[in-house]
Amino acid sequence: MSATAHLPQIARIASIPSAVSYETITATPSSPHIGAEIGNIDLTRSLTNQQVTELHDAFTRYQVIFFRDQKISFEDQIRLAGYFGRLGKHVGKSSISKTTGNEHVRKFHYDETSKQISGENFHSDQSCAPIPPLGSMLYNHTVPPDGGGDTMFASMYAAYDALSDRMKKYLEGLTATHDGTRVFGPDTPISVHPVITRHPVTGRKVIFINQDFTSHINELPRLEGQRVLAFLIDHCDKPEWTCRFRWTPHSIAFWDNRCTHHKAVWDYWPNVRSGYRVQVEGAEPPMAG
Ligand code: SIN
Repeated sequence: MSATAHLPQIARIASIPSAVSYETITATPSSPHIGAEIGNIDLTRSLTNQQVTELHDAFTRYQVIFFRDQKISFEDQIRLAGYFGRLGKHVGKSSISKTTGNEHVRKFHYDETSKQISGENFHSDQSCAPIPPLGSMLYNHTVPPDGGGDTMFASMYAAYDALSDRMKKYLEGLTATHDGTRVFGPDTPISVHPVITRHPVTGRKVIFINQDFTSHINELPRLEGQRVLAFLIDHCDKPEWTCRFRWTPHSIAFWDNRCTHHKAVWDYWPNVRSGYRVQVEGAEPPMAG
């Protein structure tokens, strides 16, 4: 048995270099492995190059960044997302979130008439697409009065790091099918991606499967594949590498869809939670880790 087998699982995880001090913004980590709240910025205005550089660094480092007290318009949200890439479009043919007058902005509104909300299982967005989104940005202007409606985020870097060396080796080279019809119905993409991917910016390895879209692991016999997938789904979203964002009115969460999972908690019915989401297009298909 290797010496590391006796260490707590958490000891395997490469820590995020969290003690950064930026020139223009502040970043307060939300947990040891994922998330930071960004301060000292006004998102209703255009940003300077330095602000954009620092936001890019924070987004990459913390995997999901949060902003509070930002009364933004569609234009402000689109401008902010545009600093990270081209705006994308949802690939779902039928989804719970709704279109708006702007082709890039979707409405995420839930109230006493809602039968379901989007994203109740941990997932990455639209992993069924040949090139899944780089990131998604959700703005909530209205949140439940008594709390609730948090979004949880999990670090897929930490989930990968925490695997045993034997499991890492076993998963190397495997691919999985991500079937959009499971979530969004007929005529939605079905794509094959590596089970272990490499983040294009950090070069770090990521577990890239999720409960919503991943139907099976392609190279394994059916039962073995089902059990391995079930293990990974369980493992990916352990509380040890999650953070939980408690929304306040006019706050924003912007997550890196290439290395995180997220889950919306629906504990606030019949209260209202309402906002808008945009997504940034990915630049390339997920590459093997
Ligand atoms: C989602 O994007 O899947 C939903 C996130 C949320 O509403 O908190």
